[in-house]
Amino acid sequence: MLTAEHIFSTALAYSLLVKKNQQQDRIKIVVYGGNGFVGTRVAKALYEREVCAVCLSRTGHKPLHLKDRKWSESVRWCKGDASSPDTQLLERLDGLVTLVGSPPVPTMSKEAYNEQVFTNGTANANAIRAAGEAGIKRVVLLGAQIPSPLRSKRFGYAAGKKLAMDAAEEFSKLSNEHRAIVIQPGVIYGRRYLKSGKAISLDTLFKPMSWIMPWQFVSVEKVADRIVSELLCNEPNKDQFIVIKNNQI
Ligand SMILES: NC(=O)c1ccc[n+]([C@@H]2O[C@H](COP(=O)([O-])OP(=O)(O)OC[C@H]3O[C@@H](n4cnc5c(N)ncnc54)[C@H](OP(=O)(O)O)[C@@H]3O)[C@@H](O)[C@H]2O)c1
Repeated sequence: MLTAEHIFSTALAYSLLVKKNQQQDRIKIVVYGGNGFVGTRVAKALYEREVCAVCLSRTGHKPLHLKDRKWSESVRWCKGDASSPDTQLLERLDGLVTLVGSPPVPTMSKEAYNEQVFTNGTANANAIRAAGEAGIKRVVLLGAQIPSPLRSKRFGYAAGKKLAMDAAEEFSKLSNEHRAIVIQPGVIYGRRYLKSGKAISLDTLFKPMSWIMPWQFVSVEKVADRIVSELLCNEPNKDQFIVIKNNQI
């Protein structure tokens, strides 16, 4: 005979099973560089759309300023280097966001030049290639809008960004199902947090500049929202490789 206790425990087991299946059904996205200025906003935007986010960085820590933010507990903050990606992890995920990079500083030595190319180029390109090998079909790369006089091989930052963009284009040609989106902001403004948790607001200077030069400045929230909407876009017949400039973000 069925008792109330029996019915209750069966209902509980069923609800747990449904929850587990729902978790398994959720889209899972890996974000290389996910602990940074843009990466943490992408993680939050993914959380708001009920997507599982795995934020990878070389240190692997959750940024200090997020320690009391409830949403950040739903994100996995792990160690992972884009330049030598974990293919087994990528095989379990549905999409890649890669936003590893450095500020566009001029280089005075061969080592510094190579470092810029490696950080902005090789690291992202390796993550994109590994995503292709792991069966991932959607990649969003955060590049940069570089003024034309600086778009030269002699500028390590530009050479690196080009290398990563070429890898994204190659990815899009893997099959009809593959799509790569490159987002190229100019200057991104918003609140940036230091490792100590201290905030620096870039809004005071850059927000008014964005009204005067909308083609050159964009807010970090807009960039993160665009990354996530491109990542999750299900519209048919979209181009397999697209480049989005600052004023289109
Ligand atoms: N901020 C801007 O105004 C702006 C404008 C245009 C384009 N961009 C581009 O946008 C991207 C993101 O910029 P951001 O300002 O968010 O940079 P950010 O705050 O420095 O964040 C990048 C994060 O990437 C991680 N990282 C570095 N190398 C890595 C690697 N090999 N593997 C995994 N993680 C790595 C770093 O953490 P760990 O040290 O812990 O690894 C860092 O926290 C960059 O490519 C940048 O060039 C930025």
